[in-house]
Order: sequence, then structure tokens, then C-alpha cells
Amino acid sequence: MTFSYVSNYDSTKLRGMDDPLTPRPWNLSDEIIKIASADKKLLDIGCGTAFKLIPLAPYYAEIIGVDISQDMVNAAKILVKKNKLPNLKIIHGDSSHLPFANNTFDVITCMVSCWDIPEIFRVLKPEGVVIIEHIGCEDKKEFKLLFGKDEQGWRGQFLDYQKDEFLDSFYKKFSLLFNSVSITEGYWRTLYSPDGLLELLKFTPTIRNFNLNSDIPIFQKWLAQLENKEKIPLIQNRILIKAKNHEKII
Ligand SMILES: C[S@@+](CC[C@H](N)C(=O)[O-])C[C@H]1O[C@@H](n2cnc3c(N)ncnc32)[C@H](O)[C@@H]1O
Repeated sequence: MTFSYVSNYDSTKLRGMDDPLTPRPWNLSDEIIKIASADKKLLDIGCGTAFKLIPLAPYYAEIIGVDISQDMVNAAKILVKKNKLPNLKIIHGDSSHLPFANNTFDVITCMVSCWDIPEIFRVLKPEGVVIIEHIGCEDKKEFKLLFGKDEQGWRGQFLDYQKDEFLDSFYKKFSLLFNSVSITEGYWRTLYSPDGLLELLKFTPTIRNFNLNSDIPIFQKWLAQLENKEKIPLIQNRILIKAKNHEKII
């Protein structure tokens, strides 16, 4: 069963509050602005509600956000309209069949979503740059382990991977098409409320087939033994992939 996002995903409770004692290892927005210029075209794959694209709009000539979920596309269009950004467009589409011509974009980003490297390669200009933030396999590990295994393995997203093989697989896949690939990983801590964690479980694929009836008792039992139930610390793990310099002649 594939997981479908709805716009409830964009809730401050679900995102939690980053612990100021453990700053994020990079600022994704800064990374994307660093390579911006007023004549460049950016594509964001799996844009969700597009809230991360709003601050980027002044730095690019044009930004297109694409998402497979119609609910997300509708929510993103409302947000773009509210912010009056004529250079930011939202399109319904799938990362594996991007509705764009070859060599269209200078920059392609994908923030915690799905991507297809040959499709990125096809629509990216030869001198273009890719920036991807992906969930690491140690993300919220202790929490995910609580929900055990099913017939496919650990139910927690990416728990079945070993860290080195996970990072290496990204490096190998991108290196097939790009000459310059860099992979960085990092950790920080986010503080969640019980409601925020419940939203995370309900509205994201963090736990495969999360079931309100059978999984809530597990969650509540774990919650009961925590000292501070309003600021629950979970370790976040992300991977930053940057790729460029592809030799293509189309
Ligand atoms: C975790 S959300 C991230 C949204 C946004 N990038 C952010 O960082 O807030 C993942 C998004 O990717 C979208 N998505 C999942 N599979 C996709 C696909 N094959 N093609 C395009 N979008 C996809 C989902 O609908 C969802 O909006």
C-alpha cells in the first residue's frame, strides 16, 4: 500500500520544535539560496504545501513546485496566491514522469520526498545543480523501534537499512550520472508534544500501516513512562545530497 500525504502534514505540532541546544547541521533554505540567481529556474519535487518555497521566490526567476497529491497541490496554490508570488507555480505531477521538457531547470530540489534520478537528469540543464534532503535511516530510531516488525521487516521507515549501505547507495546511484556528488549527514534533536507525535504517526509514513486501534496502546504505554510529556526529545537524522556536472548530450 502506498502512502498518500494530505495537507494536515503541514502542521507546526507535527514538525515539533527544534531544540536550540542542538542546531540543525545545515540550513536547507540557505543552501538553495547560495546557488540562486535572478535568471535561474528552480524545480522542487514533492513540494507539499510549498511553504518552504515561499522564502526562495525572491531569489529565482521562476520556481515550479510539483506534487503527486492533489490535496497538497490545492493547499500549495492557496498559499502561493496568499503570498502574491507570480514567479512561483504549482503543478500536479509524479517525480517519475516529470511533466517538463529536457534541459529545463538550473536547480532541482527535493525536500523529504520521492525522486527519480534519470528524470531529474533529463529535465536538469547540463550545468544544473541538484540539492536533495532525504530522511536518514537513524531518524527517530528509538521511537520507530517501539512499533516492531511486520511481514516486510521493521515498520519504522528506513529502519531496515544499515547507515553505511544507505549512504553508499545514494552516492552510487547519483555517481552513475553526475561527476560531482557530495553526501553529508547530520543529526539534531526536536521536541514534540504527544499530539504532535500522534499527527506524525497519522499523517506521515513514519510507521508502516499505523493503526489507531492496535498502535495507540503501544504509544500510550511509552508516553506514560516519560518524565516530561510535553517536550519529548527525538533525534532527527537527515542526508544532504548535492550533485552536478553531468555530461549529457540530448
Ligand atoms: C514529507 S512531504 C514533504 C513536503 C515538502 N517538500 C516539505 O519538505 O515540507 C512529501 C511530499 O512528497 C509528495 N510526493 C510523494 N511521492 C511523490 C511523487 N512520486 N511525486 C511527486 N510528489 C510526491 C507527497 O505528496 C508530499 O507532499
